Amino acid sequence: MKSPLLPLFALLLAPWLCAADRDWPVYLGDAAGTHYSTLGQIDRTNVGRLRVAWTFHTGDAGPNSQIQCNPLIVDGVLYGSSPQLDLLALDAATGALRWRFDPFAGRGEVTGGRGVNRGLVFWREGNERRILYTAGRFLHAVDPASGKSIPSFGVDGRVDLLEGLDRDVSGLSLAGTTPGAVYRDLLIVCTRVGEGPAPAAPGHIRAYDVRTGQRRWIFHTIPHPGEEGYATWPPDAWKEIGAANCWAGLVIDPERGLAFVPIGSAAFDFWGGNRIGADLYANCLLALDAATGKRKWHFQLVHHDLWDRDPPAPPVLLNVRREGKLVPAVAQITKSGHVWLFHRETGESLFPWREQPVPKSELAGEMSWPTQPFPLKPAPFARQQFTEEEVTTRTPAAHDAVLARLRQATPHVPFSPPSTRGTIILPGFDGGGEWGGAAVDPEGILYVNANEMAWIQQMIPTQVPGANLGETIYTQLCVACHGPGREGNAAQNVPSLVNVAAKLKREEVATLLRTGKGMMPAFNFLTPPQRNALLDFLLNTSQGTSDRNDTEIVGGVPPPRTNASPSARRGEGTPPTLPVLYTSSGYTRFFDPDGYPALRPPWGTLNALDLNTGEYRWQRPLGELPELTAQGLPPTGTENYGGPLVTASGLLFIGATKDENFRAFDSATGRQLFEIALPAGGYATPATYSVNGKQYVVIACGGGKMGTKSGDAYVAFALP
Ligand code: HEC
Repeated sequence: MKSPLLPLFALLLAPWLCAADRDWPVYLGDAAGTHYSTLGQIDRTNVGRLRVAWTFHTGDAGPNSQIQCNPLIVDGVLYGSSPQLDLLALDAATGALRWRFDPFAGRGEVTGGRGVNRGLVFWREGNERRILYTAGRFLHAVDPASGKSIPSFGVDGRVDLLEGLDRDVSGLSLAGTTPGAVYRDLLIVCTRVGEGPAPAAPGHIRAYDVRTGQRRWIFHTIPHPGEEGYATWPPDAWKEIGAANCWAGLVIDPERGLAFVPIGSAAFDFWGGNRIGADLYANCLLALDAATGKRKWHFQLVHHDLWDRDPPAPPVLLNVRREGKLVPAVAQITKSGHVWLFHRETGESLFPWREQPVPKSELAGEMSWPTQPFPLKPAPFARQQFTEEEVTTRTPAAHDAVLARLRQATPHVPFSPPSTRGTIILPGFDGGGEWGGAAVDPEGILYVNANEMAWIQQMIPTQVPGANLGETIYTQLCVACHGPGREGNAAQNVPSLVNVAAKLKREEVATLLRTGKGMMPAFNFLTPPQRNALLDFLLNTSQGTSDRNDTEIVGGVPPPRTNASPSARRGEGTPPTLPVLYTSSGYTRFFDPDGYPALRPPWGTLNALDLNTGEYRWQRPLGELPELTAQGLPPTGTENYGGPLVTASGLLFIGATKDENFRAFDSATGRQLFEIALPAGGYATPATYSVNGKQYVVIACGGGKMGTKSGDAYVAFALP
């Protein structure tokens, strides 16, 4: 029973509660990206009594769908997105649907790929209010009161983000997956673009007028002639090379007028023979003047990236204590499991670091960078090296199988370059730190969840001797996700294409190649003869090349192919001219023969790091695999996606784990205080808010990662 006094009490308090104390009005909580809330009704003493307050089912989960959305809560209304990227407004106290907006309805076929939606932007000034959010390549403006498109924005209520990139990108893939950030009346947007061996759009950073949708500035992340950084690329890179995009999100320091924008690697991710050089501003933390887009400073975290080491999450703004003074800082977590801390105004590192020599690539045409920057403090929050001591000891057979595969690969040190022998990637392609990002509290403590998963990667020449056109295109463009034998990748939720003819019609596959779907990019640049040859290859032969189907067991890596030679031919019936000599065998986790990680546990962790001192407060495994716990193993931690939420009352909430549970920890000690099963994996960052004096914690349960089921629920918790 609700106390009758509570609403009255809330009413009395209302004038003193500022919106930020009740609401969750910005992606990840606030403009600084802290994942922090001052709410404290739920605390260490009562969190164990949390109950489900309401559950809302979006009703549109699909076979590999996810919800990665960190919802917004403004004035008692929750705004979130659904697996198919519909925008939803729910009563935040009851979960009742207020309205629903379908961004694709009546818009015809949308090409360019869809991706996911990690969140939204709520903008208000005076009486004006709008929600800005991206579905696929379109940025929409929607009225939060009615759920209707605002037709005066862009063209008929939306802006095509594939336009306005200062170069021809027609037919290429682009989707806005993470919300941008607002500075005054500007929305600074970020985009996901292709990073594969196919042609890719550049990831230039742009700001749009929140009222009109007009582009107000652009920052070329691959500099044009005459711009600073241009000389770190080959002369024509600005016309041809793609990516160097911010897909992870950005944060704003409104007081200083600065935008902090983490930039990912250039395309192609794993071979850079056509982008010889340091490749600025790829892999940089960039500080831009938020009003003009002019660069203030940058720090390159990886030179000439060959490992897909994109900064995986937006940075976090905080103040740290140095020699008795508060210093304005920006912290950036990395996939490699490091935390970089910079002075917000100067870009100077606030901890020592050093450039160190790294091994040289032996791939044809490649010129890897001789050194890379290594932070000397704080210590990394994930293991850095897969030595033989780190091999799983779960069973003797698992140990021996993993050890044998490990010995075949290039000996692993940080920045071991991609090779045809196979390279261990640790922390894995998804981190280390992942897109969920880190939370910080006002004391300067950073809370970050991490994966400790080894992946294994092998480079394959793009020219297949004796192969027909369709197979060549498949090898060039599709192998990295669907696998050399078309077997798919269950751990990445990529479907098998063996026998795809039994499931899909030729026209359906052709449409998919134009539009993309879920995490699959679009391949709209294929000419009709190229598309037809690929369709013939996929649909007329029902068997995959089964000799390569044994690959999921250890490492998932096929035997290397030889004889690379560049494709110089152009024309309709020839493969798309790929400037790359190698493609990647895929995004493959290194598992033992029973499907458990090849590395000894923990496989997922939660860490509390004091950024004043650079010392850890605590570190612990996050999550468990019930069947291993039942065998008497201590909790192993699991791979995890989605970030934490920290409250002033000393609680750290997080879903993220493969076991599909939601947990609360004591932020001071890391002790677990609460755990509950979710209807599907909560692979999203939770939010907290208060309505009528009652505090809620909400998380999207979209599942669909790490081979777990997809879900369609938002679940809110509150005290009884
Ligand atoms: C970046 C990874 C990636 C690449 C590259 C990629 N795909 Fe996919 N593909 C996916 C994912 C993920 C799905 C599942 C999409 C969904 O249902 O949400 C998929 C689905 C498909 C499907 C539908 C299968 C089914 O069972 O429904 C076909 C067909 C397909 N891809 C063909 C291709 C072809 C052909 C290429 C190369 C031109 C390609 N893909 C490149 C990730 C990829």
